[in-house]
Amino acid sequence: MARRDFGKMGINTQLAHAGNDPRDYFGFVNPPVVHASTVLFPDAATMAGRSQKYTYGTRATPTTDALAEAIDALEGSAGTIIVPSGLAAVTIPLLAFLSAGDHVLIVDSVYFPTRNFANTMLARLGVEVEYYVPHVGAGIAALMKPNTKVVFTESPASNTFEMQDIPAIAKAAHAGGAVVMMDNTWATPLYFKPLDHGVDISIHAATKYPAGHSDVLLGTVSANAECWPKLHEGFITLGCCAGPDDVYQVLRGLRTMGVRLERHQESALDIARWLETQAGVARVLHPALESHPGYALWKRDFCGSSGIFSVVLAGGGVKQAHAFLDALRIFGLGYSWGGYESLAVHVSLADRTVAKGPYEGPIIRLQIGLENVEDLKADIARGLAAAAV
Ligand SMILES: Cc1ncc(COP(=O)(O)O)c(C=O)c1O
Repeated sequence: MARRDFGKMGINTQLAHAGNDPRDYFGFVNPPVVHASTVLFPDAATMAGRSQKYTYGTRATPTTDALAEAIDALEGSAGTIIVPSGLAAVTIPLLAFLSAGDHVLIVDSVYFPTRNFANTMLARLGVEVEYYVPHVGAGIAALMKPNTKVVFTESPASNTFEMQDIPAIAKAAHAGGAVVMMDNTWATPLYFKPLDHGVDISIHAATKYPAGHSDVLLGTVSANAECWPKLHEGFITLGCCAGPDDVYQVLRGLRTMGVRLERHQESALDIARWLETQAGVARVLHPALESHPGYALWKRDFCGSSGIFSVVLAGGGVKQAHAFLDALRIFGLGYSWGGYESLAVHVSLADRTVAKGPYEGPIIRLQIGLENVEDLKADIARGLAAAAV
C-alpha cells in the first residue's frame, strides 16, 4: 500500500492523515507553516518559464497545498482554493463565474452577507439577482433564463434550516447551462458531499467546524474538474489569499473534526428532541428531527447532522426573545458557530423576500457546543422560563 493511500479508508483515518506526507518534511508529522511572498528560482530560464512548483506566495505554498489536498480528499474535488473567510469563499466563486448581463438564482434563505453581496456588488456589476424558495426542487427549471449562469444553494438554510433537493436543482440547472454552487458549511464534507450530488462548486466557512475553536477565519472553495480552471483563475486574479498561520490552524482542526462533530451531532439532537417536549416551544427547526418538513430529504442525501438548529418560541416577540437570551448563563450571545462553546442568537428574517414563514413566535438559533448536555438543558430551561413571564 502506498503510504498516502487513505482515500478508501474510514473518515476519521482520512481526517488524521489527509493533505501532507510526513516524509516530505524529514518525518515531522505536521507540515511547516510557510510564511512567504518571494520564492527564488535557481536560474533565469526557470524563472522565465515559471517551471517550478512554487512561484509566489499568493498562488500556493506547502501549507496551503496541505490543506487544499486534505479538502480535495474529503470533497472528492479536482481543486480547492483557500481564502481568508467563509464570506470570501462565497464572493470569489460568484465573481469568477458571473459577468454583466448574467442572471443568478439564489435561495432566499441564504446566509445574509451572501444576499448583501449579491444585492450590492453583483447588482452594481450588472448581474441580475433573483431569489427562489428553498423547497423549489425541480421547479427551479421554470425560473431558469437563457442567461442564468449560476444557481446558488445552501442546505439546510441559514437560521431556519429548510432542506433543498440538491440533486433535482442541479439536474435542472445543468439542463439550462448553469453552474451549481452550494454553501455546505452546516454539514461539512463529512455529512454531505455536494459534488457527489451534482453540485459543481462546494463552499465552506472553515471558520466553523474545521477551525472549531472560534479563533480563526478561513474559507475553502472546491470545484469539480470542469469548473476548477475558472475558479482557480478567479482566485489568482483577485489575490485573495489566506494567512499561513490560519491555514495551518484549520489543517490542525481537521484532525479532530470527526470526533468533535460526532459530539456536536449527538448533543444537538438530544437537546432538539428534548425541546420538542418543552412548554413555550412551538417548533424545533432541525432537519434530522422526524417532525421537520425536510427530514425525508435530509435522510436521503445526508449522513449526519451538525450542532446548529433553531427553536421557535410559542408566541411573543422581541421582548420574549431578549428575555430568553438574557437568562442564559452558559450559552454566549454571539454570531458564528462550529466552535467548542454554545451560542445563541435571536434570528431576524427581515431580509427574506419569498421565504418569510409564518412562524409562531421569535426564532432563537442555538449552536450546541461540547459542554455537558444536562448543563445546556438547564440553561435553555432558564431561557424558556424567562421568556414565559
Ligand atoms: C452558512 C454560512 N456561510 C458562510 C459564512 C461566513 O463565514 P465567515 O464568518 O468565515 O465569513 C457563515 C458565517 O456565519 C455562515 O453561517
